[in-house]
Amino acid sequence: MKIGIIGAMGEEVAKLIARVENPANSEIAKSVFTAGKLAGQDVVIVESGIGKVNAALAAQVLVDKFGVDCIINCGVAGAIDNRLNIGDIVLSEDTVQHDMDTSYFGDPVGIIPRMKESYFKGDKKLIKVASDVCHEVNPEISIYSGRIASGDQFISDSDKKKWLSANFHAMCAEMEGAAVAQAAWLNDTPFLIIRAISDKADGSAVMDYGEFEKKAIEHTDKLVMGMLERL
Ligand code: ADE
Repeated sequence: MKIGIIGAMGEEVAKLIARVENPANSEIAKSVFTAGKLAGQDVVIVESGIGKVNAALAAQVLVDKFGVDCIINCGVAGAIDNRLNIGDIVLSEDTVQHDMDTSYFGDPVGIIPRMKESYFKGDKKLIKVASDVCHEVNPEISIYSGRIASGDQFISDSDKKKWLSANFHAMCAEMEGAAVAQAAWLNDTPFLIIRAISDKADGSAVMDYGEFEKKAIEHTDKLVMGMLERL
């Protein structure tokens, strides 16, 4: 099995890339894809860049050029569900694009017109493995599976946060997951989006963001390594 791993920002995948054995780098579509062995698995890891377009492109390259069997997208997110604390993990039961809006034509926001699916479901086996491993490697935090809402916006406003909760029952918001999910679904490729909470998506704790983000990434890093050992 070959596993594709996408992080939007360098810091979200830097430690994973640094551990790859016999790394082979290829630059495709201005992103560097690192192929090699990690925890005994064949992996291809890429920093995709931020936002849905970058993420979807990286996923398609992983499928087309590297023939990956599944895709894991790890990174940070803002909490929409108030139960979530900084550092907690959310696994994608499903994903939605909160900025997909053809409500002018009567569609609910989030629905992708003329597609059979709009809420792409994370792979059940990957969710189970991630959940089991997370309890072991990150025992101090809570882990949830739920809906991840993605859009090309950093959410930092409490009214927008309430809207995301009311409209989508989203657990967290970020900027790539639903795009990876859609690309994976179009290619019949199982996927999992993993997000650790770096902020409350309401503009609070701006001063601490960097520190919270670092902590959150430590949790996804441990989780992905643990998953690779288990898969
Ligand atoms: N990634 C981390 N926090 C986020 C937020 N509040 N909105 C969108 N993406 C994020």
